[in-house]
Amino acid sequence: MPDIALEDTGEKPVTPTGREGGGIELPSSADLAARIDTMLRILASISDTAPEEGVTRLAFTPTERAAHDVVAGWFDEIGLTVRQDVAGNTIAEDAGTDSLQAIGTGSHLDSVPRGGRFDGIAGVVASVAVAQMLKEQGISHTHPFRFVVFAGEEGARFGQPCIGSKAVAGLWQPEHLDEVTDAEGVSLAEAMRLVGLEPGRIAEASWRDKDWGAFVELHVEQGAVLETQGSLLGIVDLISGSTRFEIDVAGRASHSGSTPMSLRADALSAAAEITLVAEELANDSRHRGTRCTVGKLTVFPGSITTIPGRAVVHLDVRDVDSARQRQTANQIVRRAELIAERRGVTLEVRLRSDTSPVVLPTWIRQVITEACQEHTDRWRVMSSGASHDTQLVNTVIPSGLLFVPSRGGLSHVPEEWSSAADIARGSEVLLNALLKLDAHPHLT
Ligand code: GLV
Ligand code: MN
Ligand code: MN
Repeated sequence: MPDIALEDTGEKPVTPTGREGGGIELPSSADLAARIDTMLRILASISDTAPEEGVTRLAFTPTERAAHDVVAGWFDEIGLTVRQDVAGNTIAEDAGTDSLQAIGTGSHLDSVPRGGRFDGIAGVVASVAVAQMLKEQGISHTHPFRFVVFAGEEGARFGQPCIGSKAVAGLWQPEHLDEVTDAEGVSLAEAMRLVGLEPGRIAEASWRDKDWGAFVELHVEQGAVLETQGSLLGIVDLISGSTRFEIDVAGRASHSGSTPMSLRADALSAAAEITLVAEELANDSRHRGTRCTVGKLTVFPGSITTIPGRAVVHLDVRDVDSARQRQTANQIVRRAELIAERRGVTLEVRLRSDTSPVVLPTWIRQVITEACQEHTDRWRVMSSGASHDTQLVNTVIPSGLLFVPSRGGLSHVPEEWSSAADIARGSEVLLNALLKLDAHPHLT
């Protein structure tokens, strides 16, 4: 595999398209946590798997679109102007008293297969709650406030994370949308067309920095730092990057009974060794902080009585250190090549996505810190192990990320849980942070 290079940047104009609501009434209880709880329940019910199997709402499926429609309907009900961009992001605007750069907040609604009901959704629900509080309390602001629901944040379907936010960052070329495919071979461009989007016009989803001043995302932590430290809020300074790739191992399929051990080229045994090498490298003290995961292993032909002739190892390497992230990925490939040579199998390596770690701007962090301090002294600064839309948005406009606790640190599983009270607190802090940005000298 050639050494992995960094991505390019670019900016293009925005062209909105119209959007209709989802027809589910906005919860209006006087209690913020109760409203949040109701919104979470409604969104959790929009899933391709049964409730006990967790939420399945993959990127660019009709199910993801249905969730966008519901939230678009809620923003509409609050009285905001709602539109969908060509990449499938839903954007609602509450006009400011002046025509200044917008201040944004938001997150995503898609999930991993059999995932949780909070990852991304907490930030979207917090955005709706903030928009509702602004209207109900008649809070005026000079900058327009924009509430964004990003499309396709999870890399689960296409191996490519943050598809919608990558579009707003102007980092997609239309031809790349044809090259990225899901496990069924459906290209991202085709998937987008099937839900009525326009991949050929992806560049038009780009945000221009003259239109946008700052962005803050609320997200569940997806780890156990806040809970174990007794903190209620996390202010993120650093977001891990990820390099995702597949090592496709080709061996020789044959009969499991009649083929002597000495005459085998077992693709799965080689894949198993590669998996352990990835774990070994991440556990090496020189890689402190690197996380390597084989989250998927596909074996062919997949019969108990046939030696596997092919195995595909799906790898995810994450780090807060950009160079170490790419070096680790390259080291896994070099070690895999040695394993392949020794075992008489061949390899093909395909890079699926490569995102750099991001240091978030100090001044936005400071604004979020002040907003937290006004609510509680139980906050801390921390890094994020997971990827976030904020990472991509920050390439265009200064951005920040606020965490609320996750029970037991579990995420991407049905057991994922954050309390509505914690998300309500986070929503109030988020509103406070947006209002502080509205008055911030950097944005006036
Ligand atoms: C998103 O949740 C990711 O980091 O995979
Ligand atoms: Mn997320
Ligand atoms: Mn996720």
